[in-house]
Order: sequence, then structure tokens, then C-alpha cells
Amino acid sequence: MANIITRTAEGVVDWFNARAPGFMPVYRKHMSEYYAPKNFNIWYIFGVLSIVVLVNQILTGIFLTMHFKPSAAEAFASVEYIMRDVEWGWLIRYMHSTGASLFFIVVYIHMFRGLMYGSYQKPRELVWILGMLIYLVLMAEAFLGYVLPWGQMSFWGAKVIISLFGAVPVIGNGLTEWIMGDYLPGDATLNRFFALHVIALPLVLLLLVVLHIFALHEVGSNNPDGVEIKKGPKGNRWSPTAPADGVPFHPYYTVKDGFYVGGFLIFAAFIVFFAPAMGGWFLEHDNFSEANRLVTPEHIKPVWYYTPYYAMLRVVPNKLGGVLVMFGAIAILFLVPWLDRAKVKSYRYRGVLSKVLLGLFAICFVWLGKIGAGPGTDPVETIIGRFLTAFYFLFFLTMPIWTRIDKTKPVPDRVTTHD
Ligand code: HEM
Repeated sequence: MANIITRTAEGVVDWFNARAPGFMPVYRKHMSEYYAPKNFNIWYIFGVLSIVVLVNQILTGIFLTMHFKPSAAEAFASVEYIMRDVEWGWLIRYMHSTGASLFFIVVYIHMFRGLMYGSYQKPRELVWILGMLIYLVLMAEAFLGYVLPWGQMSFWGAKVIISLFGAVPVIGNGLTEWIMGDYLPGDATLNRFFALHVIALPLVLLLLVVLHIFALHEVGSNNPDGVEIKKGPKGNRWSPTAPADGVPFHPYYTVKDGFYVGGFLIFAAFIVFFAPAMGGWFLEHDNFSEANRLVTPEHIKPVWYYTPYYAMLRVVPNKLGGVLVMFGAIAILFLVPWLDRAKVKSYRYRGVLSKVLLGLFAICFVWLGKIGAGPGTDPVETIIGRFLTAFYFLFFLTMPIWTRIDKTKPVPDRVTTHD
């Protein structure tokens, strides 16, 4: 039996190769002959998990689109219809809404891994830049999606965020009106946001993800030791010219990643089945009421993944200043490959100063997130928020200094396989 299956599979592959010989080299380059460092640890699964969540968002999004009505009069009711009357509609919707938060959880961990192991350093600057573009598009995509169910927070969130463009000198008001297509978020806003959310941005996102992975596969993966395996000794049991410290991505990492993907799906299922709103963090309480332009919610705040930047916006007293600080906080991340002047990549071989500063940076980001999620009325919290914002920028602006003066440890010639 096994023999028949193997022979049939080989026959199909041969048939395919005879007609499309260009595919096999692509498969080899990115899978069976992509030699990935053999010392990847758990931090290296979050890229693959991002792909898993991306696929989930696209698939569940297609089914939601079949029943969703993109008009201000019908949107809220159509989501309720999906939740109550469409067969398995509640599951599809919760998979999509939970997926949005999980996307940011895995992407934030993925980015932090990049910072920890210096994965943005030469020759992977382009991989980082493409990743940052993905992050920007992802934030826009999630914002547009959040407006669609036309709940209270969809409406008021859209109003607050779009009104930020009003801070632009001279053209501000015109710009705000142009984006909304009205004086307040309304039918025109919902229609265009729907078009952008279901087709335009997903296409851009997919393209960027493909480029991100292709760019990575040109230069090869970094690893927890920050050692370039391509520069090390050559020859392993699969090829005499491949890096000695690399293993073929398929089947070695496909199997390993598959195991972790299974664990992640179980974790995700627990959230979808038992806590889809996550106490108001994943689906905000106010969004269970339909949009009403005459009733303002008590606290207008964005979903958790934007709150660090929202905190920065709020603690700056001037509106234009706040907007510049908020966008500046994202823009500065693009420059990390050139701000970091350390001679070693991985934090494993960096000194105490770098380790402490990176740890403080992570705490600062989470703390800002907590402040941004609060009502913003506590003056002490506002002062703390200002200090944290200053620290956030100083971390990056002084990076060329502290990465240079920090003492580093000798980096081994070959990757190490124990943590
Ligand atoms: C949809 C979002 C994203 C997807 C699907 C994605 C996918 C991937 C995959 C599959 C890898 C290879 C496996 C791994 O190293 O984990 C990777 C590597 C990498 N990604 Fe992403 N990524 C995304 C977002 C980002 C973002 C936002 C950044 C940072 C700004 C980023 C920076 C990097 C870097 C620097 C590497 C190389 C890591 C190394 O070799 O050590 N990625 N990405």
C-alpha cells in the first residue's frame, strides 16, 4: 500500500516537473535546501505563527464577508445575525476577532526576538525594513477592521483617530473630511474602510510577507548566537557546500514548527471558546452596543495593541506634538539597524548595560500600554507617561552610544546547541 502511494506521489511530481520545471528550484531554495541554523530556539517559531494567524484571518474573513453588510444602517445587525443565525457564524467571527489580537501578540514577540538577537544588523536590514512595513500595514488593517462592526467603539474610535489628521497644518480639516467622506464617520466611511480592509491591505500584506521571507532567504537566518553560519565551515550530511551548522528547513523545521503550531492552536482555541472578549481586552464592552453619534462612551480608547502609542499621544499637551511623537515612536523603529553600533549581534554576548536597557525598554512599552488603556485622568500617571515616553525615545537616540561603549563577550566561531 505504502509503495503504491509513494509511486503515485512520485508520478504526480514528475508530471508536474515535466510541465512546470521552474517550480522545483523554488521549492528547493525555500524548503528542502534552505539551510537554517541548527540552534533555533522557541523564539524562532513566532514568524511561522504569524503566517498561521495571517492564513486564519484571510480564511475566516472570506466567510464573514459572505454575511456582513457594509452599510451604517445594517452593519451592526449583520454581525449580530452572524453571531446568532449563521451556522457556525459565532465561531468564525470569534476566530477572526481573537486572531487580530493573537496576530499582534505573535508579531510583538517576533519583533522583540529580532531586537534580542540583533537580527536587523547587516546583512538583514532589508528583512527588518520589510517587517516594519508589515507592522504599519497590520496596524492600519486592524484599525479598519475594528470600525466595520459599527459598535460604539468602532464609531468613536474612528472619529478620534481620523480627527488626528486634523492636526496637520493648513490641510488638516480637509484631509479629515476626505478620509471620512463626511463630517462624521458614516456610510461612506464604512464602505471605503470595508474595501480597504477586505481587499487592498490584505493584498499589500501578502506581498510584503512574501518579500520579507524572500529577503530573509537570500541572506539566511540569524540565530540565538548571532553567528553567521554561511561564513563558518562548509559541508553537512546533505550537501558538501552547505553550511556545516545548517539543517534543511524541510523536514527538520517544518516538523518542529508543526509541533508548536499544534500547541498554539490549542491555546488559541481556549481563548476562542472560553474568553473571546478577554475581559474587554480583545473585544471592548462598548462595542457590544450599536454606534450612536449622540452618545459618547465614557472612555474612548483603542484596542490594547495600540495603547502604548495612544498613551504617548495623550501625555503630550499639544495635539500636533502628540501626533508627531506617536508617529515618531513607530518611525524610529525603522532606524534600529543603523542606530545599533554593537560589534556582536546577539544579546547573549553583549554586556550588562545592553541587557538592562533592553529589559527596561520592554517594561516601558508594556507600562505605556497600561497607561494608554486607562482613562487618562490621573495626573500622576500622566507624569509617569511623560517619563516613559522620554525613555522610549532616549533608548533609541542614545543607542549609537551605549551599544558602542558596552563590554561584549567573545562570540564563538560556531553556533552553540545548548541554551
Ligand atoms: C505578518 C507579519 C510577519 C510575518 C508573517 C513574518 C514572517 C517571518 C518568518 C516566517 C520569518 C522566518 C522565521 C523566523 O525567524 O521566525 C521571519 C523572520 C524575520 N522577521 Fe518577520 N514576519 C512578520 C513581521 C515582522 C515584523 C513586524 C518584523 C520587525 C519589524 C519582522 C522582522 C523579522 C526579522 C528581523 C527576521 C529575521 C530573524 C532572524 O533570522 O533572526 N517580521 N519573519
